[in-house]
Amino acid sequence: MSRLQPNTTPATVVDHPLAASMLAALRDATTPPPMFRLLAKRLALVLCLEATRSVPTSSYQVETPLGMTTGQRLAKPLVAVPVLRAGLGMLEAVTELFPDVTVGYVGLERDHATFEPSLYYSKLPPLEDRAVLLLDPMLATGASAAAACGSLVAAGADDITLLSVVSAPEGIRHLHECHPTVRIVTASVDEGLNQHAYIVPGLGDFGDRLFGTL
Ligand code: URA
Repeated sequence: MSRLQPNTTPATVVDHPLAASMLAALRDATTPPPMFRLLAKRLALVLCLEATRSVPTSSYQVETPLGMTTGQRLAKPLVAVPVLRAGLGMLEAVTELFPDVTVGYVGLERDHATFEPSLYYSKLPPLEDRAVLLLDPMLATGASAAAACGSLVAAGADDITLLSVVSAPEGIRHLHECHPTVRIVTASVDEGLNQHAYIVPGLGDFGDRLFGTL
């Protein structure tokens, strides 16, 4: 299916007991950064598997020790783009699963008063005819994810999947309104946002918990 068609399902929520138990441990305020990093990577592996479910494949002939069979390989190159800095916690999962992936980076800061994002860094490989996995673990207002998608589209991307650990309904709505073709794969859709635009119940500041900068 062409990814230029509007996406009618705004978010795919991964429904797996392992994902649920890892998410619970990530939410736990007593989980220290080393364990947080490990869990973030493992949960990102699950999200990545779901996000790449529909990547097209092509057939080729494989000779096993006992005969010939038909194998499959990815027919579309992948690009991973972590949003700095929290998205870095999800990158290793993608590079381990897909060693041929190329990697771009997008740096976004949000203004603490207005919550509006501004782009301070962008380094992207070619994105045309690639399946782009945007790594941004907390889909809160959706403003940063929408801005990141805007810069990916401007650079030629037309097949983008956002991998987010926790999403707020507001963020899903906003991203879907701004970029209806972008798929969202998440481990949870939480209740909503507090007055500081943090996700509730969420898990706090993902970047701080990942890098121990609390
Ligand atoms: N970013 C985070 O790290 N956590 C939130 O809850 C919202 C945005």
